[in-house]
Amino acid sequence: MKSQSRRRFIRNGSIFLSGTLISPYLLNSCKSVNDRINFGFIGVGPRGLALLNEFIKSYEVHLLAVCDPFSDRRDKLAKKVDEINARKYEKENYKSCRAYSDYKELLADLEIDAVVIATPDHWHVKIAIEAAMAGKHIYLEKPMGLSFEQGQILRKAVHESGVIFQYGTQQRSDHKFRLACQLVRNEKMGKLEKIDAWCPGGKDAFAKFNPEPVPDGFDYDMWLGPAPVKPYTFHRCQGDPLSKGSYYIYDYAIGFIGGWGAHPLDIAQWGNNADKTSPVKYSGSASFFEPDNLFDTICSWDINCTYANEVEMRFMSDDKALPVIKKYRKFHDHGTTFFCEDGWVSVDRGGIYASDPRLLDIEFDENDLRLYESNNHFNGFIRCVREGKESICPVEAALRSDTISHLCNVMIRSEVSVLEWDPEKEEIINPIAEMETLMKRAMREPYVIKTT
Ligand SMILES: NC(=O)c1ccc[n+]([C@@H]2O[C@H](COP(=O)([O-])OP(=O)(O)OC[C@H]3O[C@@H](n4cnc5c(N)ncnc54)[C@H](O)[C@@H]3O)[C@@H](O)[C@H]2O)c1
Repeated sequence: MKSQSRRRFIRNGSIFLSGTLISPYLLNSCKSVNDRINFGFIGVGPRGLALLNEFIKSYEVHLLAVCDPFSDRRDKLAKKVDEINARKYEKENYKSCRAYSDYKELLADLEIDAVVIATPDHWHVKIAIEAAMAGKHIYLEKPMGLSFEQGQILRKAVHESGVIFQYGTQQRSDHKFRLACQLVRNEKMGKLEKIDAWCPGGKDAFAKFNPEPVPDGFDYDMWLGPAPVKPYTFHRCQGDPLSKGSYYIYDYAIGFIGGWGAHPLDIAQWGNNADKTSPVKYSGSASFFEPDNLFDTICSWDINCTYANEVEMRFMSDDKALPVIKKYRKFHDHGTTFFCEDGWVSVDRGGIYASDPRLLDIEFDENDLRLYESNNHFNGFIRCVREGKESICPVEAALRSDTISHLCNVMIRSEVSVLEWDPEKEEIINPIAEMETLMKRAMREPYVIKTT
């Protein structure tokens, strides 16, 4: 596209999906058609749509396919994407976006280079493994999967295939989080001693279980996939974050301890230089939704995790964190605080705070360690795909931080007071019988994970 046309596209500012205006500040320099990366989106619920709105801003991204078991979601979106592509590439009646109901067909599409996976969690690992085997680069939403074992299998598949993998932990691409971790990693407040990591637990989420007819145009079996068959009800498959089964039903998720927890834990791991390890000891308490609720995951927790380097991390849901956090800073429902010998730094999406605010103005010098810098999670992924470079959150880091929420879940559900972990062998040191089942997930035929 000539720069004049590109400017017109920018000036019109006219990309809308679901009422969201895509501001064009990210549009990259013009590339030839052959230079574009063809993307397919698997799972186009609220998160998939939000990601699509980000990726489509780039001229390097050619959106070629969407996939969802809801026919209205995928068909309407494919039409909308065609309209946007027509304006973006200045070709009237541009038709390129394919709407798939089965992700296998999308993965078999040889023109697709990269996939964005934003299905409910119970599908993440299976689809990502098949994507890796099909040679597609992967942007995978967090959390990785429903069990530690699933994550391990995915790591192997990604490493063997050599595709680029980036995890949906976008906080790493925000300068505040990098600054906090860089201050800690360079010991600007002395040695790291303790971490607080917290996030919403979803405690107020509630839905009744009323079986309902499956809506027309919805492939419920494809939505359930590897999960057990249960009667359809609206809140199992849809709803907002306060009433969504895909966040709080154990068949599809381990709950916000993993779903939201992935964000503050990912930052804790980054700041503690722990991307290749996980804490070695877990103890604490948690509670579940009440039995009359359709939801059944952990929804409130307060768990101590100890790293091999003796750093203690207190991982909490927001209700437990409130009295702890408000003692030293303004409370937000999520965040990560690093306590070091000579002070603390704390970060959330709204801001960065420190025991001594002058710490935040420190100039790093040439001897200081610089952390991986990505100022935009989506453009960062595109760059990595183009340059064959490791992403800011590769599969190893993703698995190691998800290991924490899985082990917390296993410790609570197996009702032991302490769980000890060997991060080298990736084995529980003090296992009891229940734990073996909890570290894996049974999958429904024909949706079991196959790696050959
Ligand atoms: N990184 C973040 O900040 C962030 C924020 C919100 C959600 N998420 C994650 O994104 C994912 C999606 O979240 P959501 O709120 O959109 O969930 P959702 O359940 O509302 O939407 C998921 C979509 O995936 C579709 N889907 C289900 N099975 C599929 C299959 N086999 N093939 C293709 N599509 C399928 C569903 O029909 C639905 O449209 C979750 O894993 C969630 O944890 C991440």
